[in-house]
Amino acid sequence: MMLSYTLYFFLFLSTFPVITPAAADASPAYTATEFILLNCGASSNLNDTSKRRWDSDERTSYMLPINTTISFAHRASDMHPSVLQVPYETVRIFPYTFGYSFPIHAGPKFIRLYFYPTAYSTFNASQSFFSVTANGFMFLRNFSPFLNTPSPSEPSFKKEFIISVQENQSLTLTFITDTNSFAFINGIEIKVFNYVNC
Ligand SMILES: *[C@@H]1O[C@H](CO)[C@@H](O)[C@H](O)[C@H]1NC(C)=O
Ligand SMILES: *[C@@H]1O[C@H](CO)[C@@H](O)[C@H](O)[C@H]1NC(C)=O
Ligand SMILES: *[C@@H]1O[C@H](CO)[C@@H](O)[C@H](O)[C@H]1NC(C)=O
Ligand SMILES: *[C@@H]1O[C@H](CO)[C@@H](O)[C@H](O)[C@H]1NC(C)=O
Repeated sequence: MMLSYTLYFFLFLSTFPVITPAAADASPAYTATEFILLNCGASSNLNDTSKRRWDSDERTSYMLPINTTISFAHRASDMHPSVLQVPYETVRIFPYTFGYSFPIHAGPKFIRLYFYPTAYSTFNASQSFFSVTANGFMFLRNFSPFLNTPSPSEPSFKKEFIISVQENQSLTLTFITDTNSFAFINGIEIKVFNYVNC
């Protein structure tokens, strides 16, 4: 990947467990049992250029049932040549507060949120301001992907976070729209955090 990786936010909900069942299972980075790649707004599963398989978010159980009817799936009106088709070409747009809930094992998780701020049908990302929380902890506040685009020549980007999930707890990502705005997300990656894949 050509995009620069920034460890944007480092958060532990509890003291860092030296050995947890999830971390122990996942010691070598490539045998992580828990690996979610969600291509938001896509209607079918697709591979990216690295041959990683991204699942459509449409037929997953990750969308909170209460929210399923209020979101929109769209395709970018225009693809910048530097932007990868998977996961950036499709988007899920939320006019109201919306969430995904991932039933996963306890332990530290690495989360990447993928954004391509462009126009999607009648939605222009320049008008999108929202906050993102994970299990109640603030990841992004009054965030504008449009205003945070790293450079005009590379208009897609990702934000990275680490969170520790407690035993029997789901990982719930909630997108909270600012007044008269909407939230959007192109892709979500979740994997077991260890120092190898950081
Ligand atoms: C994705 O790649 C796998 C092999 O890595 C292949 O079996 C599968 O058909 C590919 N899926 C698509 C949608 O191209
Ligand atoms: C969507 O789900 C969130 C919880 O993640 C909830 O706070 C919000 O009220 C829901 N929105 C609607 C319109 O049901
Ligand atoms: C989206 O908004 C930006 C900034 O206001 C503007 O430059 C751009 O032309 C708009 N795109 C579309 C497709 O309306
Ligand atoms: C998690 O759930 C299992 C099965 O219901 C239960 O036995 C265990 O005590 C729970 N652990 C915590 C920390 O709540």
